[in-house]
This record gives sequence, C-alpha cells and structure tokens, in this order.
Amino acid sequence: MGGNGINVLKGNIIYTENSDSFNIIENGFIVIKDNIVEGTYKKLPEEFANIGIEDYGNKLIIPGFVDLHTHASQFAIRGIGYDKELLPWLETYTFPEETKFEDVSYAEKVYGEFVDELSSEGTTRAVIFATIHIKATEILMELLEEKGIIAYVGKVNMDRNCPDTLKENSDESIKNTINWIEACNKKYNLVKPIITPRFVPSCTGYLMQELGNIAVNKNIPVQSHLSENLSEIRWIKELHPECENYGAVYDKFNLFGQTKTIMAHCVYLTDNEIEVIEKNKVIIAHCPTSNVNISSGMAPISYLLKNKIKIGLGSDIAGGESLSILSVMKSAISLSKMRALCFKEEEKALTLPEAFYLATKGGGEFFGKVGSFEKGYEFDALVIDDDNLWKTGKGTIYERMERLIYLGNKRNISDKYILGRLI
Ligand code: GUN
Ligand code: FE
Repeated sequence: MGGNGINVLKGNIIYTENSDSFNIIENGFIVIKDNIVEGTYKKLPEEFANIGIEDYGNKLIIPGFVDLHTHASQFAIRGIGYDKELLPWLETYTFPEETKFEDVSYAEKVYGEFVDELSSEGTTRAVIFATIHIKATEILMELLEEKGIIAYVGKVNMDRNCPDTLKENSDESIKNTINWIEACNKKYNLVKPIITPRFVPSCTGYLMQELGNIAVNKNIPVQSHLSENLSEIRWIKELHPECENYGAVYDKFNLFGQTKTIMAHCVYLTDNEIEVIEKNKVIIAHCPTSNVNISSGMAPISYLLKNKIKIGLGSDIAGGESLSILSVMKSAISLSKMRALCFKEEEKALTLPEAFYLATKGGGEFFGKVGSFEKGYEFDALVIDDDNLWKTGKGTIYERMERLIYLGNKRNISDKYILGRLI
C-alpha cells in the first residue's frame, strides 16, 4: 500500500460498465484509495506521481469472479451421477452426501478443500449453500473468513420430501436459524448469513412463511432454486395448486425480493414470473454447467439480459462439475449459441463481454459496488499471466481475454486482491 492509503497498479486493464462492451486500457493505471477504486487512467495523473507503482507489465488485470450459487457440501460428489436428472440425482447422490455433514470432522475436511479450490479459481465473492447442520455451516464460514473470501453462506432449511436424516422439525429449523443468524453477526466480518429454503418441494408452507418473516424482520437476504427442471415444475403445481406459478409460491411467503434475493437456474420462467422478478429486483444465478450436466435445459439468458433482469453466474457444484467461473463463462456462451440455433434465433448468443459482465459486475451487484473498476467500486481483482497461452506472439487484449476463457485456468491467476487486500 502506498502513502495515504493509496495504491497504484499498472497493467492491461479490462472490465465492464455494462454488458455491451469491454472497457480496455492497455498499459494503463488503476488507482485504489482505501480499498476503493479511485479511477483507471491511460496516463497517471500528476497527483499520484510520487506513489510507488505495482507494475504488472504485460499481464491482464480484471475484476475478481463472483459465484452467485454453489453448494460447498457437494464438493466431494463433483463429476458423478450426470446420467440422472435433478430429482433422482438429489435422491441418489446429493441427499446421502449432505447427510455426512452431521460429522464435524467430515465437514472440516470437505469444506477445507472447497475453500482452497474456490480461492485458487479466482472467486473473490461467493454465495453458498451449506447443509441443514449448524456446526458444519459455522466451520465453512470460519474457513472462508480465514481465507479472506467475502461470502454469504446459507444453513439449509428443509422439513419435507427428503430422507429422515435431513428432515428437520419445522419449529427447530426456525429456532436454529434465528440463533445461528444472531451468532453470525458477532463471529464474522467478511462472511454473512443468508436464509436458504432449499427449494419449494423440501419446505412446508409453514416453514417458508416463518423464514420469510425472519428475512423481512431482520433484513436478511434469501437464496433458493427456481424453475430448474420440468419434473420439478410439475411437482410444484401439485404441491401448490393455489399459486399461479413456481415464483408465486416464494412471493406468497416473502421470499421473492422482499429482501435481497437470489434465485438459481430460472430455466423455464413464465412472462408473469419474469415481470415479478423484475419488479422485486430478484437476481438470477445462471448455472449453465449444471443445466447441461443434469439435463435441466437452456435458460433464456440473452433475452433476460436484454430485458434488464439482474443476472450473475453460478458454478452450482455438484450439478456443475467445477468451481471455475472461467469454465462457467465458456458454458454460458456455448449454451446460449445452442438455444439461439435450436429454437430461438431472435435471442442471439451471449457475447464475450456479456459473459464477462455476468461473471463480474452482474453477480457483484448482489454485494453492492462490486465487480467493476469504475470509480467507487470495491477493489477485487485478478492479475492474469497468460504467457503460456500465446507461444507465438500475443493477440489483442480482447483476444487474450477470449482465449483465457477457452484455454486458461487457475494456473493463469498470478495475484488476487479482495477489497484492496493482496491475498
Ligand atoms: N434443487 C434443490 N436442491 C438442489 C441442489 O442441491 N442442486 C440443484 N442443482 N438443484 C437443486
Ligand atoms: Fe443449486
């Protein structure tokens, strides 16, 4: 850190202000004041001339990645069971795995590996599902805090349609959730609690109602799953014939944007759901790797983006196979091409800046001014060394960004900053 809490970095700077295009400053400067971006410059202003510069040479400097939806408790079952769709996959693989988090030593081991991997993949902010177990959830929160990752973590709530080993007594689930939220506020700085009804089929109306009350009364954000899979959606109609659609169930119980809300997947939204999502400022976590692996479908992301819906990306492990947001970006582009080609030509495929925007500023909005290098943004950044991707002379900055997404990986991340701090 330079004098007066000011830091200056030099390199090839890339970020987005909106999803239309990149802001690129080749051999530019980024000035950070008290962990907040002061500005980006082609020529360093005179007033900063005497401050030591961290010169990253020909490397790229990009905002840190935001993972808006992932299940830490499913880290050990990545990459298996993808011959099944959502509901049998949950029954066969996921629920038995999550049961193991009753055991604190198992939680320490898996969550330790999860947090190491999340950090090394360049994710600087994340919104995470744990399990129903409070002790294990607190272990996860401590590990994230130690690593310096800024995160929301959810103790999962479920009181129906799951194995007895995971089925909570409704009142205990509510009481435990309140106690856990109160304890969190005293224990952690970087990591915060988020209310996490797993999805409608695993929560009774009573439980959802009480969780909605907690969210509103204590102003706690909410995360859940919405319209991921066709069998799931048919089941919601049977469980809640009184509601017009899936989103209306959450809305009825104050879990749909009454406080900051993330809904994962949103593959099959109706026009009415889209309207309410927009009105209530619900943020969608798009999870393309997961939507392919467990055959969920192709979400209309280009369409939603053009209609000003708030969207970020989610790795959704273990539905998704990897915590790499680079590979989630690649999948988001690929899947949008298939959607446009197969049945919605007018929707167009996602562009490179659009995918990058979703991975940074789109998801970052959930955390406030995060995911960009505009003035006033919290400084989360990755420094990228892509020499190994360009053996015979480098392309343009835009091409380097594109190749990073298609051929790069965590080994290309050479430095990482979270809220101004070098990690
Ligand atoms: N819907 C309810 N639970 C889950 C889960 O664990 N993963 C995914 N992908 N969808 C869900
Ligand atoms: Fe999920």
